Amino acid sequence: MSIETPSQNTIQKAASLLREGKLVAFPTETVYGLGADATDDRAVRAIFEAKGRPSNNPLIIHVHSIEQLFDCIDASRCTNKTISYLNLLKPLWPGPLSVVAPKSSHISDIVSGGGSSVAIRIPNHPVALALLEYCQRPIAAPSANPSMYVSPTTAQHVQSGLGDRVSLVLDGGPCTIGIESTVLSLLEDTPIILRPGSITREQLEVTLSCQVVTKQHFESSSQPNLSPGLLPKHYAPRTPVRFLNSIDKNELETYKRVGVILFDKQRHVPPNACMVRYASTSNDAQEIAHHLFRELRLLDTENLDIIAVDTCDISGIGLAIMDRLTRATHS
Ligand code: TXA
Ligand code: MG
Repeated sequence: MSIETPSQNTIQKAASLLREGKLVAFPTETVYGLGADATDDRAVRAIFEAKGRPSNNPLIIHVHSIEQLFDCIDASRCTNKTISYLNLLKPLWPGPLSVVAPKSSHISDIVSGGGSSVAIRIPNHPVALALLEYCQRPIAAPSANPSMYVSPTTAQHVQSGLGDRVSLVLDGGPCTIGIESTVLSLLEDTPIILRPGSITREQLEVTLSCQVVTKQHFESSSQPNLSPGLLPKHYAPRTPVRFLNSIDKNELETYKRVGVILFDKQRHVPPNACMVRYASTSNDAQEIAHHLFRELRLLDTENLDIIAVDTCDISGIGLAIMDRLTRATHS
């Protein structure tokens, strides 16, 4: 794998590799994506192989314009409501919102895990947008990590997880948001948030002028097929992760090597912690999101018995933070 600094030259090289059916990792504002040409069955299959991802877990397609986004959707199978929702959502792109709608036939069926719908977004990152424009193909790109592990927010994370399974990584530095996009299904009359992200339900309700429901993520799903990727356990380091406030003092003392991730300088630090990291020092949700995966990955290399992690408010992006952490703590 080569890690390249983005320039016109290297982005064009990455676009050519994608057009040849190769895998290229690239930065987005949320996390790094592992890209392949979404119209090429073989290339898309290679994504599933590289990640060790179950073939029924569908991928998100990345495009550079609203026109290209509509091109990935089969309008003849959309309800009037789906079309009107898509039109109302236009101002949120480019941005961290993926919409699920009926899939156009030129998109590989492997992208959708055999299903008839597809998730699409326009990423808000100059390198991703330039790559998509040079490439002139819709690009399927899940997070660039081995299946079930924590998503990558730097090029080095991609390298340590996928190594030579990727032809090239464009290094755009750390991702600004740090947590995956909001996934919104527009298949029903009421839009459903399948995965919370930094675009919140409140923001979507204002934009769409209708009720938006959130699939309950904090319990194991009663509708496992709604979004097959949304398993209760996900995004997990190898070291066991627990919420600090769910471990009593006596239990905590039984562990030899305790790592702690806190969200505020004011928090009490457990006396036997051997590593203490702050995702934020002032309980700032944006900052927590930005640093969270980096800190989980860092502590996962420290041979700890347990990673004890702080909790935050579930307002705004806090819901997405607690969603990811709840999955990481699920055993
Ligand atoms: O921020 C992001 O969304 C990142 C960057 C790279 O864009 N991508 C990402 O992809 O997180 P991935 O594959 O790790 O997560 C895709 C999520 C999964 O939970 C999957 O189940 C859901 O989107 N999804 C994809 N297509 C779907 C579909 N047709 N119906 C329902 N859910 C779908
Ligand atoms: Mg992922």
